[in-house]
Parts: sequence; structure tokens; C-alpha cells
Amino acid sequence: MAKRCVKVYSGFNRLWHWSQAASILALLFTGARMMGLHHLIPFGMAVTIHTLTAIALLVLWAFATFWLFTTENWRQFIPRQTGLIQVMRFYAWGVFRGEDHPYRKAYQSRHNPLQRLAYLALKVVLFPAIWTTGLLYLSYDFWDHLPQAAGWLSVLAQVHILAAFAIASFVVIHVYLLTIGHGFWKHVRPMITGFERVEVSPEAEAYFAAERPERLR
Ligand code: HEM
Repeated sequence: MAKRCVKVYSGFNRLWHWSQAASILALLFTGARMMGLHHLIPFGMAVTIHTLTAIALLVLWAFATFWLFTTENWRQFIPRQTGLIQVMRFYAWGVFRGEDHPYRKAYQSRHNPLQRLAYLALKVVLFPAIWTTGLLYLSYDFWDHLPQAAGWLSVLAQVHILAAFAIASFVVIHVYLLTIGHGFWKHVRPMITGFERVEVSPEAEAYFAAERPERLR
């Protein structure tokens, strides 16, 4: 496959990614305030921002899920075993010895096998865990009459906080991994401009040239 500068991230893809990142950072900041980990803003303000941002993020996720399944993008998140061990070995060992990243990013497959696993776990385990517990917490007034409601509320709060810490760990690892390889900005720029030099199959290149020339640079 030849390397071409092609639009890898559509406008919606980038809007979704950065709005999601900003919302999650705001949720972590206000959530930490509610837990008493800092006192940089008043408690009441933290609760209001946390609730409104969470609702906005849920709307964004609904649109992003629709976009994922009405475009071919969902295929990018299906796990693949081929090459997984090589990528894991690279992050555990090769990166400290100056080896090259074993994965070659391609238009049809923009995530390496480890990214596929991590992003899928985020989407099908951590995000559902945080939003179901959050919504149940928010709607406590509707089910507080049920037997052992207070006990269940405490379980929900703990699962919510556990998922929040797992998401915070994802963010730290995600940003750290962007510093590996060709440099932080080389990784981040495509998520801002949309364009990146990646491997493109001859069929895809012919399709872009004939039907979507604006996607090739
Ligand atoms: C705060 C929560 C964040 C979450 C949940 C998140 C999630 C994701 C997901 C799911 C993807 C794959 C998107 C796709 O290919 O369609 C992605 C890609 C990417 N993210 Fe984030 N992200 C976050 C924050 C950040 C931050 C703070 C940065 C940079 C400073 C960043 C930079 C990138 C870049 C450059 C990519 C594309 C590179 C790649 O996946 O190899 N992200 N992110």
C-alpha cells in the first residue's frame, strides 16, 4: 500500500473527540471537587456544572453512536489479535530501546490492536458503567422508597467513582502514549486538521480520486 495524505478524521469525528475530551475533563474536575479532593470552586457550582455537562455528554454520545453505526467507523473498533503481542512488547520493552513502532497506520485501520482493545473497553465497559450509575444516582428521588435504597445508592456511588478513576487513568495513558514515536504534535495534529499521511489501498485511492478528491491532499 502507498502512503498518502488523506482525511482520516472527519469534521464530526474531531468535534466529537474534542467535545468529549473537554466534557470528561470538566466532569473529572467537578467530580473531584464533590469528593473534597480540591476546593477550587464552590460545592454547589460543581454539582450544577457536573450535572449539566453529563447530560450534554450523553446527548453527544447518542449522536456519536448514531454516526459510528451509519458510517463504516464502527469497524475501526473491532478487536484484532494479529499484531497485538508485538504492540504490547513494543510498549513494554522496545520503546525503551529506541525500536520503531511495529504498527503501520492505514486509512482502513487507523488503530493498532491495543488501541482497538482500549477504545472498545472504554466504549462498552467504562462509559456505560459511568452513565448508568450517574443516571440512577440522579434519579434517586424516583426510587428512594424501594427496600434498601440507601444501601444501593452507596453501591452506585462507589461504582461511579471507580469508573471515573478508570477513565482518568485512560486519559493519562492515552496522552502518555501520544508522546511516543514520532512526537506529540505529529500524533495530535491529524485530530485537529483531519489529515494524516497513512497507508491507503489502491482501491481506496482510486475511489478518493474519482469521487472524493477533497479527501486527498
Ligand atoms: C479526555 C478524554 C479523552 C477520551 C475519552 C479520548 C478518546 C479517544 C478515542 C476513543 C479516540 C479514537 C477516535 C477515533 O479514531 O475515531 C481518540 C483518539 C485520539 N485522541 Fe483522544 N481522548 C481523550 C482525550 C484526549 C486528549 C486530551 C488528547 C490530546 C492532548 C487526545 C488526543 C487524541 C489523538 C491525537 C487521537 C488520534 C490518535 C490515535 O488514536 O492514534 N485525546 N481519543
